[in-house]
Amino acid sequence: MLKVNLDGVVREAQPDELLIDLINRAGGSVPHVCYHPQLGPVQTCDTCMVEENGRLIRACATKAADGMTIYTKSAKASAAQVEAFDRILSNHLLYCTVCDNNNGNCTVHNTTKLLAIEHQRIPFRSKPYEVDNTNPFYRYDPDQCILCGRCVEACQNVEVNETLSINWEDTNPRVLWDGGSTIGESSCVSCGHCVTVCPCNALMEKSMLGHAGFLTSLKKSALSGMIEVVKGVEPETGYGSILQVSEAEEAMREHRIRKTKTVCTYCGVGCSFDVWTKDRHILKIAPEHGPANGISTCVKGKFGWGHINSQDRLTTPLIREEDKFRQASWEEAIGLVARRLSEIKNKDGADSLAFISSSKCTNEESYLMQKLARAVIGTNNVDNCSRYCQAPATVGLFRTVGYGGDSGSISDMEKADLVIIIGSNTAESHPVIATRVKSSHKLDGQKLIVSDLRENEMARRADLFLHPKPGTDLVWLSAISRYLLDNGLAHTKFLDQWVNGLEQYRKSLEPFTLEAAERLTGLSERTIRTVAHMIAEAKATCILWAMGVTQQSQGSDTSTAISNLLLITGNYMRPGTGAYPLRGHNNVQGASDHGSMPNMLTGYQSVDDPEVRQQFETKWKVTLPSTTGLDNHQMVEAIHAGKLKAMYVIGEEMSIVDSNANYVEAAFEKLDFFVVQDIFFSHTCRYADVVLPGAPSLEKEGTFTSTERRIQRLYEVLEPLDGCRPDWKIVQDVANQMGAGWRYQHPSEIMDEIAALTPMFAGVNYERLAGYKSLQWPVAADGTDQPLHYTKRFAFPDGKARLFPVSWIGPTDQPNAEFDLHLNNGRLLEHFHEGNLTYRTEGIREKTPDVFVEVSPELAEERGIQSGTWVQLISRYGKVRVRALVTDRVHGKELYMPMNSVESPVNRLTSSHTDHVTDTPAYKEASVHMKVLAEVGDSPLPRINPRFGHPTPQGGVEVERKWKRADYAPPGNGNGNGLVQLQTKK
Ligand code: SF4
Ligand code: SF4
Ligand code: SF4
Ligand code: FES
Repeated sequence: MLKVNLDGVVREAQPDELLIDLINRAGGSVPHVCYHPQLGPVQTCDTCMVEENGRLIRACATKAADGMTIYTKSAKASAAQVEAFDRILSNHLLYCTVCDNNNGNCTVHNTTKLLAIEHQRIPFRSKPYEVDNTNPFYRYDPDQCILCGRCVEACQNVEVNETLSINWEDTNPRVLWDGGSTIGESSCVSCGHCVTVCPCNALMEKSMLGHAGFLTSLKKSALSGMIEVVKGVEPETGYGSILQVSEAEEAMREHRIRKTKTVCTYCGVGCSFDVWTKDRHILKIAPEHGPANGISTCVKGKFGWGHINSQDRLTTPLIREEDKFRQASWEEAIGLVARRLSEIKNKDGADSLAFISSSKCTNEESYLMQKLARAVIGTNNVDNCSRYCQAPATVGLFRTVGYGGDSGSISDMEKADLVIIIGSNTAESHPVIATRVKSSHKLDGQKLIVSDLRENEMARRADLFLHPKPGTDLVWLSAISRYLLDNGLAHTKFLDQWVNGLEQYRKSLEPFTLEAAERLTGLSERTIRTVAHMIAEAKATCILWAMGVTQQSQGSDTSTAISNLLLITGNYMRPGTGAYPLRGHNNVQGASDHGSMPNMLTGYQSVDDPEVRQQFETKWKVTLPSTTGLDNHQMVEAIHAGKLKAMYVIGEEMSIVDSNANYVEAAFEKLDFFVVQDIFFSHTCRYADVVLPGAPSLEKEGTFTSTERRIQRLYEVLEPLDGCRPDWKIVQDVANQMGAGWRYQHPSEIMDEIAALTPMFAGVNYERLAGYKSLQWPVAADGTDQPLHYTKRFAFPDGKARLFPVSWIGPTDQPNAEFDLHLNNGRLLEHFHEGNLTYRTEGIREKTPDVFVEVSPELAEERGIQSGTWVQLISRYGKVRVRALVTDRVHGKELYMPMNSVESPVNRLTSSHTDHVTDTPAYKEASVHMKVLAEVGDSPLPRINPRFGHPTPQGGVEVERKWKRADYAPPGNGNGNGLVQLQTKK
């Protein structure tokens, strides 16, 4: 601890603590407009001047030093603060009463008040630029922009999209998109970081404009009139009384604007934020305190909420009559579901029914779904969509380290010296995790290796991009392991102390010579050696992987090979190391954790363990089935085989997101009874007998578990739309109609039951998760959690990890003369999966309206294709018609088709081949024939899509350029004498 004298009081400071943080911690009141703790010092506003030893220093950019004496309110410091803020006001009109940002958190407003500014000494000067309204979600008003550069810092160094800059050398500096484009045509991905951190109303969410204030919905002419009135009275009354009026208006807003914490409904990163609502209107998403994301979001979490108030929401149960659906009451629908499930159970046995829980639903809902299957029906036929993506990664980790979750946290990915990303389009599928890696790579010298078929954004940023032949990751990973062991580069001490099975593993690596690896993967021996040395030399390595690895017929084995490699290099048990299978859906981790699996009860307790079963039987007062049930792939097979008669699916677009969609649909047509619970009439609903309207995440309480095993609470932002019910209530209604007698009044009671039955969640309860608090499992009874896993032992009885030998078999569905092109597929940044939610946000639809197939420039030339050419893709299993997009993201004869389509889903083309351990479909092993059609349309991606933009990477705000301006002098004494400009970066 350091000692700093702050205005006459000695305070203790942490080493490296910035003065501004110390002052704030001590309850001081130094203005600071450009400083934001999550951005670090940007040093543009000069309002934080304090006096030290007779000289002025910026509190935001100066680290506390032992023995310092700081005056925050000396005449010199105060004068400098006011002078600096005066300059800011020359860039900004204070019309707070008619401003949608007048909500108590406007930094400019609050600083005016803090400094008791009465009059503007430097007159306001309008900037010669128009307001830019060209982005569907936010607008920029140059006249209100105080040039603090927070937005630039956020875009350049937190989001690292590198779109924003400030033209400091211009007569009238402003924020620029791509160096001078409109926002709409720039590379801006609408992540919203800039809008979130803007300290005033220069950047604002369009959903706020005209909605937040009482007077702000007035016509523009009337608003301008009122602004003129404010300007007119200011010389006489001063700002004090103007601010009083605006604060009265602000206080009135507090009564009608609700701010409710939720967790993002889209991907597995687990971003959390406040949702600001006025009645059912979503004013904005305000990220700040989320333990996984802080100020970060992507376009989906920040702006993708159009589905909530969509006209298409299901608001009444539907019952099939012949080929049509009719509306029904809840009573009738639940009665029918319960009656038919009972009849089929009585006639064909409990195992003729199957249940699919939703990875979009809460942990509590997943728990109730498996409880319905097991305790009420009596079958283990229950699964969730982790089967489609993450089950192989879970197996790989179970085999080697004992638990199937990420071994550390997102902060470990930030800390690593080397990050290796395999088969993951992280910047689009897990955007906020990508920001952390991009930032560490850009600012902190982290090294990045990417292995992928496509040159995605992370690949383009990587120090080394590997493009192995499809489906061969296991080979180069194993070859590296062998090379490291053969050349004395493995971490022997770690192996001796913590790992079993080395000899058997070493033997299994015999086939993986560098020569064999070069032949099978197409990567040169030199490249493989380079990767090996980079790992050996890095102090801490993380490996991130996703569906490019898992959705292969050897997904489990490749995931195992990744973990093996981490073990032999000692990359577990330390900060900045570990295995990170990136979970796709918001709660795909939680759905499995909470027992929606055919072989596991909650917390991965096996259904065939009599002791485990007995505990559940005692609590649930039933007898439980002991044999492993059907997974969702086997369910489809069992329908075709006539063994499975009824299904109940919640929130899962199974008919088109399962592979070989035609085959799945044909199965659904054979079901005797099919219940689908969803918020929209999905494609899968077409095959249903009863459709039940559930509620989206904003309309319920519960918890989600993100990719880093982080359990977080979501609160009810809006009441369920009339006619809809939270899914946990619907499942309870069905169970009770069948005689279960459940009495849950609130999801917290369900969580208490889970905790009592599950050692892994023993200490989880809603109190420990209140607000933004979170827990990363396993959670001991006293509430201790594990952000970094395996710090003391691995999760095997002897505490040691296990090397698990794997061999290479090779992919299925290979290209041949007839199906000559390899078809890869995956997500897009803007859409989640098939797009049932995201297409309902107009701005997303505008920017990314349709699906497409990416074709390499060389293949396009060979086949006479341009962007917009219609092609038919034909596989061994089906066909789709789609427009081509010519791009160098793909190479040679490799195509890529995103999943964002219900009409032309890529799964009409994929096969029923699966990972040989988990039954996860081998989605990534598809080959097709491409028939070029005569028709040429517009490019499937419009010009306003950010992929056509031209980012302008720079170090950040680059405030030094401002300081070099002839008209700049540091505040305080007019000539800069005595101002000490200290370090600029973190
Ligand atoms: S990408 Fe766009 S929305 Fe995101 S920070 Fe940059 S300019 Fe703002
Ligand atoms: S637009 Fe950017 S530079 Fe302007 S006030 Fe907002 S954050 Fe600061
Ligand atoms: S989709 Fe993922 S990255 Fe984007 S805001 Fe939601 S949780 Fe965060
Ligand atoms: S807070 Fe802006 S320069 Fe310190």
